[in-house]
Amino acid sequence: MTDYTALEQEAGARIAAAQDLAALEALRVEYLGKQGSVSGLLKTLGTMTPEERQEKAPKIQHLRQSVADALAQKKAAMEAAELEARLATEKLDLTLPAPEAPRGSVHPVSQVMDELAEIFADLGFSVATGPEIEDDWHNFTALNMPESHPARAMHDTFYFPHQDHAQRHTDGPQGHRTLLRTHTSPVQVRTMLSVVEKNGGGAPIRIIAPGRVYRSDSDATHTPMFHQVEGLVIDRDIHLGHLKWTLETFLKAFFEREDIVLRLRPSYFPFTEPSVEVDVGFAIENGKRVLGGSGDAPGHGWMELLGSGMVNRRVIEMSGLDPDEWQGFAFGVGVDRLAMLKYGMDDLRAFFDGDVRWLRHYGFSAFDQPTLSGGVGARA
Ligand code: DAH
Repeated sequence: MTDYTALEQEAGARIAAAQDLAALEALRVEYLGKQGSVSGLLKTLGTMTPEERQEKAPKIQHLRQSVADALAQKKAAMEAAELEARLATEKLDLTLPAPEAPRGSVHPVSQVMDELAEIFADLGFSVATGPEIEDDWHNFTALNMPESHPARAMHDTFYFPHQDHAQRHTDGPQGHRTLLRTHTSPVQVRTMLSVVEKNGGGAPIRIIAPGRVYRSDSDATHTPMFHQVEGLVIDRDIHLGHLKWTLETFLKAFFEREDIVLRLRPSYFPFTEPSVEVDVGFAIENGKRVLGGSGDAPGHGWMELLGSGMVNRRVIEMSGLDPDEWQGFAFGVGVDRLAMLKYGMDDLRAFFDGDVRWLRHYGFSAFDQPTLSGGVGARA
């Protein structure tokens, strides 16, 4: 005769005495596992007479349930105790400073582009973009640089290879040769064309177009890829005075100095007429050039900063506008050069090396940019 009650008590006592989860698991296997003793008893039910089974089945089932309950209770108690112990020993000091999460920084070129967008937004300009893979019609022809124009040769252009030289004029959109744009000026043409397409008419247009440009050139101040920002204003009765005021206002806001002095010098660009090269006055302080003041003052000098002019009527015409009705001004300036001048870097190549030490030094926090102390309005 099996004494189920004694078995139940013995199992209960052993389970209660188990020291850890592993011991408890061993007991579960011993009683309730496939080869376990209680499982063995359950199997004997099949060999019994109906009367015997009627008598013993409830007892064996009760025994099985009792052991299973005891195991579950003990397991829950052990886990609770373990949590208690952990909570008692692990103390969280919520006043400790959190470990600093590694954080990237904003590249000076991105920073300057944001600053430019902000300044020109104050002046009513929006940001326009164009493709970096251009065709020679937008990059040259429409900007008054036809096929044989000598200015084309000055651009050290990266052309895309084409299989058949005879195909030269059938590659790319509009049957023109594709290239990496050598300047942001084609965005002028694209903007005028799209405005004409949308409105059937012209102006006003006030845009800046920052972006990457490409030329086959490399030294301390030239990289094969660099950045420019183009400016374009088209309206009725626009003249050189508007250009001068706009550039002056922009440069004062950008360099955060009221004493920026500009000198406009006659120059030549195929896409402007007249063309002006804009110089900015600087002083030498501690052996470094610091922008501000007239370049004609003793110990001062002029630095070439950007190209600009009144948009050539041929460019306006080729972009689908009537040059007798609309005119405007344009300018183009190196974004990298603006960044170098404002934030004091002297090697352009470091901009594109991706050296994190350089980025840590010259990069900007993503949380408090742009760093301009005030927009254009703040310095009226
Ligand atoms: N596209 C010229 C260059 O890359 C810069 C330039 C000069 C742009 C005069 C202009 C401009 O819009 O009017 O050298």
